[in-house]
Amino acid sequence: MIEELLEGEEVSIFAICDGSEAVPLAPAQDFKRVGDGDTGPNTGGMGAYSPVPSFGPAEVDEVLATVHRPVLTELARRGSPFVGLLYAGLMITDDGPRVLEFNCRFGDPETQAIMPRIEGDLLELLHQAATGSLTGSAHAGTTAALTVALAAFDYPARNDVGTPIEGVDEAEANGALVFHAGTAMRGDQLVTNGGRILNVTGVSDDLATARAAAYEGVGRISFAGMKYRTDIAARPEARVG
Ligand code: GLY
Repeated sequence: MIEELLEGEEVSIFAICDGSEAVPLAPAQDFKRVGDGDTGPNTGGMGAYSPVPSFGPAEVDEVLATVHRPVLTELARRGSPFVGLLYAGLMITDDGPRVLEFNCRFGDPETQAIMPRIEGDLLELLHQAATGSLTGSAHAGTTAALTVALAAFDYPARNDVGTPIEGVDEAEANGALVFHAGTAMRGDQLVTNGGRILNVTGVSDDLATARAAAYEGVGRISFAGMKYRTDIAARPEARVG
């Protein structure tokens, strides 16, 4: 088998679908390699940010027209209309967007950067999708959000269980959104439960400030062996220093 090597920036475009119509959510960029500078094994995602400066409404519309809607049309034609969240993972090549993967679910950790930006009633939109009457939109406003995954020492293995975690309350009190992924309670103590442990999201008016807020929150949290990428949205693509 000969495969084309795709080079470029990755962008994730999620669309809420009711079987025939699709409403896009804001674009996000995911960082899949475990180490800074895109080194080490692929993971589910070590961080994400939204918006993606080079991928505006016109680019999103093009992807909806060339990727999501044709998929919905074909699935409906086959008698299995798709209702739910259609996730297209794209590589933006010099020849335009190319699909790397589809998922029928929200993405992790892109969702932690997309959801805090949504203005309006997401539940109403989901209800419209479920009842085949999708007419709303998922307006993201002018905010920006960036999330950093805090992983166990051995991630992408998942053997770190029971290590005490400190500082989550302090990070939240200082404005970070902290999402739990691989955590558990041991008595009154929050502990690790393997893999990606927490996601720390900063939300602000611009990406640079959101990034600073996320890493400020990260700095308040600790557990033995905690590892995370320090370069989420640091590439020129995001234009964040
Ligand atoms: N972030 C990749 C995924 O959710 O599959």
